[in-house]
Amino acid sequence: MSESEANGATANAAFQIRLARSGRLLDVAADKSVVQVLHQAGINVPVACEEGVCGTCETRVLSGTPEHRDQCLTPKEQADRFTPCCSRSLTPMLELDL
Ligand code: FES
Repeated sequence: MSESEANGATANAAFQIRLARSGRLLDVAADKSVVQVLHQAGINVPVACEEGVCGTCETRVLSGTPEHRDQCLTPKEQADRFTPCCSRSLTPMLELDL
């Protein structure tokens, strides 16, 4: 067991995001957030807290399973959206409504 697992934290894994409107595929490295990758690619997703508290960055997920790390979405909301400032993915790819 790694030190981060022993502390109860989940180690970040890399995954890909697909932008449904353009078909673009982007790599999210283990040390990058989805919002960082989107901003680097020129996709403007508004952010405020960047900690999963405010919900400003809320984005619809079309396929794949997010690893929700926010503290603002209800379980019902989490069924079809996530907070890309802090949340990650449980599947190799997340398709986003962007
Ligand atoms: S910027 Fe606040 S939840 Fe993402």
